[in-house]
Amino acid sequence: MPEEDLVLAERDGPVAIARLNRPDARNALSRDLMERLTWLVEEWDADPGIRCIVIAGGDEYFAAGADIKGMLERSFQESMTHPTASYWPRLWGCKTPMIAAVSGYALGGGCELALLCDMIVASENAEFGQPEITLGIIPGAGGTQRLTRVIGKQRAMELVLTGRRMRAAEAHAAGIVNHVVKPGESLEKAIELAEVVARRPPIAVRLGKQAVQAADETPLTAGLAHERRLYELAMATEDRVEGMKAFIEKRRPQFRGR
Ligand code: HXC
Repeated sequence: MPEEDLVLAERDGPVAIARLNRPDARNALSRDLMERLTWLVEEWDADPGIRCIVIAGGDEYFAAGADIKGMLERSFQESMTHPTASYWPRLWGCKTPMIAAVSGYALGGGCELALLCDMIVASENAEFGQPEITLGIIPGAGGTQRLTRVIGKQRAMELVLTGRRMRAAEAHAAGIVNHVVKPGESLEKAIELAEVVARRPPIAVRLGKQAVQAADETPLTAGLAHERRLYELAMATEDRVEGMKAFIEKRRPQFRGR
């Protein structure tokens, strides 16, 4: 099991919370931290009792990006085989919804980690950016792809080519952030949002996540056909019978994940 202190794990009923915890390095995403985070997320994803995952950092920094000190001596050949490359697709493969609670800096890989999550709650003091260009590199974990799909080519180009940071309000207007809250409240709000997702029927939630994720990768006609198949799968669940009956009988549904 990877070093536990680097990412603290908490559980609040059906919501699991991963708190990045490398304050001395502004939560820079070292290999060990990414290994621990990926390990935790995969453990939780396999646990049917966990319905939503929140990823948070500290109050002043979510994560300052990949670990620059660890990257300095890395050769081209080593970067092609470095294990950190595999953690990103593994996190993206998590079927349980993930919400980022961003307070302070989410830079480079930190911004990419937030963008990999399904929703983002940001404190007013949050700052998003892809400063890799100032180091002589470019983003390598979605900062040119997920970011561009969310905010559009012109705006993404500016961030990627200049390294300029976006404050929370601008990120919200650009569509990166779901909710902006007062400093110190992002984790609480993210958990609140996670609790709403956690109350929804779990199979339909996973299908919904899968369908929305596919929208970025599929032409419209194929995407609609894929959505239709997933919708039909949802129609095959016991939970949808319960959900519809509960609506008609004017009572709260009791979802069982079947
Ligand atoms: C390693 C880092 C770090 C990082 C900060 N530190 N960011 N160490 N990797 N990404 C370390 C500093 O070296 C310093 O260590 C300590 O944390 C405190 O940092 P300060 O700069 O003194 O803190 P502060 O003034 O609060 O400024 C915070 C900051 C700044 C704005 C976040 O640290 C910063 O700009 N960091 C780098 C951001 C960045 O360029 N990220 C992109 C990384 S490349 P000492 O030893 O001096 O105490 C990337 C590629 C992704 O992410 C590719 C994915 C595959």
